[in-house]
Amino acid sequence: MTLKQLTLELDQLEAEASKAIASATDESSLEQIRVSLLGKKGRVSAVLSSMGKIPGNERPLIGQRANLLKAQLQGLLEGRLRDLKSAAMADLLIGETIDVTSPPTGVLVGHRHPLVSTTEKIVDLFCGLGYEVVQGPEVENDYYNFSALNIPEDHPARDMQDTFYLGGNLLLRTHTSPVQIRYLENYQPPVRIVSPGRVFRRDAADATHSPVFHQVEVLAIDQGLNFSHLRGTVMAFLNSFFGDLPVRFRASYFPFTEPSAEVDVQWRGRWLEVMGCGMVDPAVLEGLGLDPEHWSGFAAGLGVERFCMVRHEIDDIRRLYNSDLRFLEQF
Ligand code: DAH
Repeated sequence: MTLKQLTLELDQLEAEASKAIASATDESSLEQIRVSLLGKKGRVSAVLSSMGKIPGNERPLIGQRANLLKAQLQGLLEGRLRDLKSAAMADLLIGETIDVTSPPTGVLVGHRHPLVSTTEKIVDLFCGLGYEVVQGPEVENDYYNFSALNIPEDHPARDMQDTFYLGGNLLLRTHTSPVQIRYLENYQPPVRIVSPGRVFRRDAADATHSPVFHQVEVLAIDQGLNFSHLRGTVMAFLNSFFGDLPVRFRASYFPFTEPSAEVDVQWRGRWLEVMGCGMVDPAVLEGLGLDPEHWSGFAAGLGVERFCMVRHEIDDIRRLYNSDLRFLEQF
């Protein structure tokens, strides 16, 4: 090994290294180059360690040269790293440019199911009349669903509503009327409540029936309430909901009201039954320890599906349960 050979080697190293650094295309390959040049086992170290093989007086020449080269390469590496970083940032910025003129890709926005929005509309109208929203359990027992509502065992009214029995005396509530009893057990009149919820009957599903459907129960108890108050309330509600469709009250029968009525609205040339109602039967009040001479009240129950179908002109109740977006997106 001679001074000349080492000098040549350093010249070659310088030329190759500058080329390699300039052509590195990303940070990790640049790092590999740095290690191969300046690392412990890199090419500059190799030159320095073979310095021992040349005469002592020549060594400082090579040492100086090697150290200069080291500093020069360090500078080149840093410069290249800066360039690569700013190029990467520029790429990122260009890639993220938002073209505000391109057409929207379309975002699917969810919205309330028509049954929910119909329930909300019904409940809102009663809230506007000063009613409070309450809810009751879907799993009921015989007492709340029937007996306390003046529907004793063997009463034919139990056949009006085919019941899902759960064993023991538990059942799925067949109507929202049990909420009346639960509320009056806990709160003294005067009361005004509206109670939306799911109810269950053993009906085969067809265009107008479903084993699960929704009702809203209405109850007002106070001193001196009479049928005019019931009628006025129902009319105010129906006029707000349907606009000015003709309304008629028809005498009917429910075990928990006396007198009782069914209410029809005229829709597309025919009378359509939309709710049941009546003055709370004195037997129901007495069962709750309320004196019927002192307190009176009215109640009503309505089917949300029926209101929803009329409101949106829906022909088949099953459409409300199928979760078909092509249908639901229309509302
Ligand atoms: N619970 C009755 C049903 O499901 C509806 C009903 C009628 C509720 C008259 C009432 C009422 O509160 O007064 O068929």
